[in-house]
Amino acid sequence: MCNLEWRFALAVAAPAMKDFLECTALITGASAGIGREIALQLAPLAGTLVLTARRADRLESLRAEALEINPTLRVFCHPADLSVPAEVDGLCRFLADEALDLDFLINNAGFGDSGPFESSEWAKVERMLQVNVVALTSLCHQLIPTLRHHRPGAILNVSSVASFLPVPNLSVYAATKAYVSSFSEGLRAELRGTGISVTHLCPGPVDTEFQAVAARPGVPGERHAPDFVKVSVEEVARVALRAVSRDRARAIPGLWMSLMPVLLALLPMVLLRLAFASRARPELRPTWRTA
Ligand SMILES: NC(=O)c1ccc[n+]([C@@H]2O[C@H](COP(=O)([O-])OP(=O)(O)OC[C@H]3O[C@@H](n4cnc5c(N)ncnc54)[C@H](OP(=O)(O)O)[C@@H]3O)[C@@H](O)[C@H]2O)c1
Repeated sequence: MCNLEWRFALAVAAPAMKDFLECTALITGASAGIGREIALQLAPLAGTLVLTARRADRLESLRAEALEINPTLRVFCHPADLSVPAEVDGLCRFLADEALDLDFLINNAGFGDSGPFESSEWAKVERMLQVNVVALTSLCHQLIPTLRHHRPGAILNVSSVASFLPVPNLSVYAATKAYVSSFSEGLRAELRGTGISVTHLCPGPVDTEFQAVAARPGVPGERHAPDFVKVSVEEVARVALRAVSRDRARAIPGLWMSLMPVLLALLPMVLLRLAFASRARPELRPTWRTA
């Protein structure tokens, strides 16, 4: 099969979810930041939104905002702690009990932990692994059969630019996001031809509650990212939804961040390791002798 025929075959095999009209979408981590904004941008188009996160009051006020945008929208709020596997299963049971046949799964909930791994609080690390990795994977596993009822259907998994490379002092977080990106690419290939597209979103720094949640009490946080690499939450949600509608494998919002994979491919690993070491342990930074 020539290249052109391949492209044609893939396009036919995987129709993209083009306009989200009347879709039924589940959004995890909808109480704040990127998830909340995705919900607001879907509100004028979607038929049903299912919102989940731990903070029920935030979900309820988002429901009210979404209904103001689109009074015919159906909005379900299901508070759940996704670090608890039984609550992830409870969410899937809720969808089944309410006969909510999803065609769009948005795995957005996630958080980081900023500081050296050695001194991290194990309970927080374990919760992070549960939310960022286990809950995301479990929701894909439990909900793909539902998505299969609809053609086209879509999965959007929120990863990060931290998935591109190891990040000292965010080591576990970056590793969870490397998992999300790798899993999403593999799943995308497996689901080719089923009508379900899989996209992973890799934002760089975005001003949300993420930084405060990642910070450790009494430990100075990571240096702030310069403003020129930051992207607004509205832009992140817009780029993500556009990527899903065009059946893109990966979405990287912002010009600077989208250049990162290219720059990283050009840098030898040995230089990156030196940079990581000096970032993690400032005493290893080169000092210049003055005569
Ligand atoms: N902001 C950034 O710079 C950035 C960059 C790259 C990637 N990301 C990724 O983008 C996604 C969204 O983050 P954000 O920036 O929007 O952060 P955020 O404002 O802190 O929002 C995180 C969302 O995840 C939910 N969540 C956290 N722990 C949860 C748990 N145990 N159970 C259920 N829900 C939970 C939070 O809801 P509750 O607290 O109400 O439960 C909240 O709705 C995350 O996956 C993050 O890793 C963020």
